[in-house]
Amino acid sequence: MAKITNICCLGAGYVGGPTCSVIALKCPEVKVTVADLSKERIAQWNSDKLPIYEPGLDKVVKTCRGRNLFFSTDITKAILEAELIFISVNTPTKIVGNGKGRAADLKYVEGAARLIANTAQNDKIVVEKSTVPVKAAESIANILKANQKPGVSYQVLSNPEFLAEGTAIDDLLNADRVLIGGEESSEGRKAIEALCSIYDHWIPRENIITTNTWSSELSKLAANAFLAQRISSINSLSAVCEATGADVSEVARAVGLDSRIGSKFLQASVGFGGSCFQKDILNLVYICECLNLLEVAAYWQQVIDMNEYQKSRFSIKIVEALFNTVSGKNICILGFAFKKNTGDTRESPSIFIANTLIQEGGSIRIYDPKVEEDQIFEDLTHPSITHSPELVRKNVTVYQDAYSACEGCHAIVVCTEWDEFTNLDYDQIYQKMMKPAYIFDGRKILNHQQLMSIGFHVQTIGKRI
Ligand code: UDX
Ligand code: ADP
Repeated sequence: MAKITNICCLGAGYVGGPTCSVIALKCPEVKVTVADLSKERIAQWNSDKLPIYEPGLDKVVKTCRGRNLFFSTDITKAILEAELIFISVNTPTKIVGNGKGRAADLKYVEGAARLIANTAQNDKIVVEKSTVPVKAAESIANILKANQKPGVSYQVLSNPEFLAEGTAIDDLLNADRVLIGGEESSEGRKAIEALCSIYDHWIPRENIITTNTWSSELSKLAANAFLAQRISSINSLSAVCEATGADVSEVARAVGLDSRIGSKFLQASVGFGGSCFQKDILNLVYICECLNLLEVAAYWQQVIDMNEYQKSRFSIKIVEALFNTVSGKNICILGFAFKKNTGDTRESPSIFIANTLIQEGGSIRIYDPKVEEDQIFEDLTHPSITHSPELVRKNVTVYQDAYSACEGCHAIVVCTEWDEFTNLDYDQIYQKMMKPAYIFDGRKILNHQQLMSIGFHVQTIGKRI
């Protein structure tokens, strides 16, 4: 395989956009085109307001856009020109049919594969980047082969993306490892080598790992399952702490200092969210069930169940503390994104908590520095969340700053760990709240002693106050 000079990426989302922007930055001699079916999304990528908020992304896009980075809806042209094509389309959980609610819906991946097969006029390396179930690369290869034109051949690689939102650019620039899975044949090895030569521009060779395709696919699900498992483990202990008087932060510190365990991903919280953890674990569970590995399936399912328990435990705590009724009370939710430094709300615990409080009759105010009002209403009125969108519209107000959101409230609920929430003037906020004034710190980011000295009633995760 000759040197790669032209790359195309199908899907301009949270994965495709930042990944290809960094490839364009580090490989100035390679033309990178990110193509998407959505005209609106591509127009945003070509504007000053990018469709996703990600620290550092604006700068990278500004440096490369128009130089060797292009965003386009002309998918055919992008495929024709490219030697290497990333598939970074969405892989939601199936909502109907066999495996509904658990299995990954591969319709977009399949659509992308068919598009490539119908368009390509010469050999292509097709790289699966979306998180997909084990053996998805095989399905892509099958579709490509079944529709192969004479003289055109394909190599399918798996190159899972490990970036986390909010730190995507740093994660891409300083990746712990890059994983490339491919066919164990001489063509397969050549394709792997071609993709390695792209990452070689900035990732040390010893951090580029090559495996067979299935190991690569399974490693991605496994990495996310392990990370989520750590959060569910510490969250499970947070319940024990609240019942016994132990402090989960002290426990996490003591446990994390064991170098075999490590300190990362031991932050007890209101529960994990994001587009990957739940989806990937459900996927893993489904695969295990299909393989008749029922004990393995049950083991990983428990990580999800614990997360549901944590979210509902926190919601119940709020209602109980407010004299067992929030009906007619103003409650301010600070943070709607699933973590700080992103505007993404997929599977955000805030959705669950807001919904519970709405169903309990509360009047909910929401402020998040990066989530748009439309997105909040879309999430809260989604049919999978509520049967009464009218109730949501009546009882939810979105604010543009924390101070006005808190004014006249009975309680504040911190759901996302945005830095700005630690720096608010809580004295001023307290003056304008109903009394007794409550704060529920679902992220353990506030100075609880100081809040109590102001007069707040404070409750948090994993510690009795
Ligand atoms: C995750 C993986 O980290 C990344 O490697 C993969 O490519 C995609 O999925 P992401 O979902 O973007 O990334 O964010 P992450 O930082 O992993 O956080 C996920 C959720 O876990 C967030 O809701 C976060 O607040 C929560 N979390 C994280 C905790 O509750 N406690 C922790 O200690 C860490
Ligand atoms: P992720 O978080 O995995 O990046 P997103 O939902 O943010 O997922 O982005 C996936 C993108 O893929 C969407 O913008 C969607 O329009 C796009 N997409 C879906 N199918 C195709 C396709 N066949 N060709 C190009 N883009 C596609």
